[in-house]
Amino acid sequence: MSGRGSNMMALVEQARGYTVALVASDKPDAAGLAWAREHGLATFALSPKGIGKAAYEDALDAALRDAGVEVIALAGYMRLLSDAFVARWRGRIVNIHPSLLPLYKGLDTHARAIAAGDGHGGCSVHLVTEELDGGTVLGQARVAVQPGDTADTLAARVLVAEHALYPRILAEFVMTPLDHVRAVALQLPEAE
Ligand code: GRF
Repeated sequence: MSGRGSNMMALVEQARGYTVALVASDKPDAAGLAWAREHGLATFALSPKGIGKAAYEDALDAALRDAGVEVIALAGYMRLLSDAFVARWRGRIVNIHPSLLPLYKGLDTHARAIAAGDGHGGCSVHLVTEELDGGTVLGQARVAVQPGDTADTLAARVLVAEHALYPRILAEFVMTPLDHVRAVALQLPEAE
């Protein structure tokens, strides 16, 4: 994560079916990182500024492997992972995005949903691929747009839905054996 870290906190506080082995941030001063340290979690903090993206991602990759990480859950991680990093962890990176994908990839999702006159906003947990917010959707929650909603008021209600959705979908994801459905979704060879 990169900042506030409320989704990371929800993943920690509702961890059932998985354990959080490491909290990593590209922003050494991220508020969420201080929270993670206070809660006794292992942390990794490094900024790519100065050392470059490749060196940063190599160090991140090493830290994740050293911590025994099997699945990476991006939670408000505001940086694009390189294609090489995504390939190294293919099928093992998930993200939460504040829209009903495939609608509104990228930023300003709530403002765009309101401007379009949508009846619902929402959030999606999806696999991370080289395409921004483009991987298979693993789960979604819908949130009604209320009259008078601004991007901020809608975002606040969607955030509550995010905190309920992400731990549930992450647990399902890590506990699902590599069966036919998952192999198709991940575009991996099926398990024997
Ligand atoms: C969340 O809305 C998440 O969906 C998006 O960025 C925001 C991060 O918030 N990717 P937080 O850092 O988890 O509080």
